[in-house]
Amino acid sequence: MKILIHQTRATATDCAAALIADRLTRQPDTVLGLATGGTMESVYANLIARHQVGGVSFARATSFNLDEYVGLQADHPCSYWHYMREKLFDHVDMDPHRAFLPKGDAADAEAEAARYEAAILAAGDIGLQLLGLGLNGHIGFNEPTSSLASLTRIKTLTQSTRDANARYFERTDDVPRLAITIGIGTILRAQEVVLLAYGAEKAGVVAQMIEGAVSAACPATALQMHRKVTVVLDEDAASDLALRNYYEQVHPRVSDPSI
Ligand code: GLP
Repeated sequence: MKILIHQTRATATDCAAALIADRLTRQPDTVLGLATGGTMESVYANLIARHQVGGVSFARATSFNLDEYVGLQADHPCSYWHYMREKLFDHVDMDPHRAFLPKGDAADAEAEAARYEAAILAAGDIGLQLLGLGLNGHIGFNEPTSSLASLTRIKTLTQSTRDANARYFERTDDVPRLAITIGIGTILRAQEVVLLAYGAEKAGVVAQMIEGAVSAACPATALQMHRKVTVVLDEDAASDLALRNYYEQVHPRVSDPSI
């Protein structure tokens, strides 16, 4: 794992966005794996700003999002499809016919999950997978005890994940109990992975992901099995790392020039 520690979340965000922009510049027809969540909002805002000054084009890219809530139609204000349109797709030159999310309102959610996995395979698998990190170690909606070889399927969300995502809904009870998520095995097939985490509340799970034993109890530890993972952190999220000095020796900490 390549561990990049930034002084602030602003430069960490810029770094994650730059990794995506660089990949699209090198390979415009990249298959992107996209994520949702609070962490990604500033990454997408950064990519929109780059796009507006001609710094990045999505015109030839394909994208597959990690997950979607079961039961929500695409136009539901809390669906991840709605999030992606609002935070990214409506503001860049992405071809909407090549931007995919699982269909949360499919009549047969299991069949939809299998179809989505097949579509990722047919696209040649994900080139660059962007990931956030759940407080309980989930990636996508692969909750603790997910098989580390799992493919796209339906997962029951933990109460902690439903609580963490309740801020997007009117009431916690409105947060769906099920989601379709691409699997850990699907993520491990990506050519490269960029995971972004910031804030002190993620410090414990970040340390577990990087330095803990590989275990389904913390699904993000599966990334230790991947050949090309870049973990981008701010200082707060890096604060529990036992080998932090070593990581900073390999890749010196990035200062924020605005401070
Ligand atoms: C959700 C998403 C994950 C995301 C996680 C972290 O559960 N399904 O893909 O990584 O939230 O979210 P945040 O960035 O808001 O902490």
